[in-house]
Order: sequence, then C-alpha cells, then structure tokens
Amino acid sequence: MSTVYRNFFGFSKKPFSADLEIKNIIQTSEIKAAHDRFDYAVELGAIALVTGEIGAGKSTALRWIVAQLHPARFRPVWITASSGSILEVYRQILAEFEIKTATSSRATLTRMIRKQISELAQNRKRQPVLIIDEASLLRLEVFAELHTITQFEGDSKPWMPIILVGQNNLADNLLHRSATPLASRIVARSHFASVNREKMAAYLKHHLAIAGMKNSPFEETAITAIFQGSGGIFRKANHLARGALIAAAAEQSQVVNVDHVRLAASEIF
Ligand SMILES: Nc1ncnc2c1ncn2[C@@H]1O[C@H](COP(=O)(O)OP(=O)(O)O)[C@@H](O)[C@H]1O
Ligand SMILES: [Mg+2]
Repeated sequence: MSTVYRNFFGFSKKPFSADLEIKNIIQTSEIKAAHDRFDYAVELGAIALVTGEIGAGKSTALRWIVAQLHPARFRPVWITASSGSILEVYRQILAEFEIKTATSSRATLTRMIRKQISELAQNRKRQPVLIIDEASLLRLEVFAELHTITQFEGDSKPWMPIILVGQNNLADNLLHRSATPLASRIVARSHFASVNREKMAAYLKHHLAIAGMKNSPFEETAITAIFQGSGGIFRKANHLARGALIAAAAEQSQVVNVDHVRLAASEIF
C-alpha cells in the first residue's frame, strides 16, 4: 500500500516521515524562542524547560538547537528517559560518555559522572550540556537527586546545564517539594503549543516539498480538515496527511479532498 501512493503521486521518498535531516527542519518562531532560552540556560550553567504536547515538535526543535552548538566548545549529552528511574538516568549519561559500569551504587555512579564532567570542562575545555528528553516520565526521586551531579561544592563556576524536555506535566512535577534544589535553578521555559491553520498549511507544504512534490495535491478544505483533526499537532497531522494521500491514490485521484482526510481519520483515530 505504501509504495502505491508514493508512485501514484511521484514522491521521491516517504512523505511526512519522522527522520528529518537537520537542514529540513523548519526554523519556526517557537524553535527560535527555544534556542534563545537554551543558550541563556547554557551560558548560566542553569536549567531550561521545554514543554509541549506529544508530537508538537519538541524533540525536533532540540535536535536543531543541539546541531547549532559549536562542537569544539560543547559536548551535548542527550538521553531519553523511559523507565524514569535514577539508575537508568545515571547509566544513560555514562553510556553517552562511553563509560561502562555494572555498579548499582548511586554514590559510585554519581562520582563517575562528576569526574567525567569536571575532566571535560577542565582538560578539554568542552562544556557538557545535558539534554533529557521525555523528562516528564522521570520519577520524583530523579528530580530530587539530579542536581547533585552538576553541583560542585566550593566552586562557583557552572558545570553542567540541563535542558529538560517533556509533556506539560513536567512543570507540575517540578513543583514537588523534593524537587526544589533542581527547580530553583530553572531560568527559562519554552512551550510548544499547537499551531494555527496558517502554520499547519506551511508545514504540510514543506513536508511535501522535502519528499519531492512541489505542488500540493491538498484542497484548501482538506488542509482545514487536517488542521482541525490534528488539533494543530504536527505528528497527528503527519498521519492524517499520509492517510489522506493513500485514500486519494486508492481512488486514482490526483487531488486530495476533505473526504480523503475523513477516511484517513476514521482509520487511524
Ligand atoms: N520544525 C519542524 N520542521 C519540520 N518538521 C517538524 C518540525 N517540528 C516537528 N516536525 C515533525 O513533527 C513530528 C513530531 O515532532 P517531534 O519533535 O517528534 O514532537 P515531540 O518531541 O514534541 O513529541 C515529527 O515527525 C517531525 O518530523
Ligand atoms: Mg519527542
């Protein structure tokens, strides 16, 4: 099914796919705002929050922002939370530093991470920047402890800024009392909200162009239907738009109309 519609519309590759190259990421005003706040937090050695609904474009924005960091000056350490435990976080950080360990001792893991951070900062003069994606999955114990890896007593120099990326409840989780030491270092927050119709239309056009299609086959009413059906969320729009293309191709229609979007919606939601 997937290749049929691609051939029918003459796409050179799969449209609306998730593995965007950095150069194909749209530099939206939200990304620019998040970039400014990211840089600000990094400069201060502090913490920034990036929040937004699933599929709103947070991880993509961070990929773009991290790609702008000067490789000789910065050492991004990107981890994605899954189980949300502190041991997982510590192990992932060490794995990013290419350090293997079997220990389950928090004290040892913390020590190893701190050693690595200070070595990076002092000897190689590269500033580590920790990015934790899906941080809304982190357990409270992580918020209570995370600051200990970045805090170096008796030294006023900032060591490792942290960018926490997650769904909206991330901000609520940080209000918990045990998270106070971490929360007190938050200096900036950016939010990825749902986009308006105009931005959604530009988004769809952009993704079609990346996949090799200059002229959009979507009727205006179909774009409105995708916008409404997705609630202005990119990832939902991807599914709807691709589904509608498949539905149109099945009818040998070069034009994608609102019925095709409705058909797609009935299949995927
Ligand atoms: N700035 C952008 N330019 C182009 N495509 C984007 C952009 N932001 C998000 N997308 C697309 O939207 C989808 C969802 O984005 P993602 O970053 O995974 O969302 P989140 O991390 O908030 O769940 C992805 O398929 C991605 O390719
Ligand atoms: Mg994400």
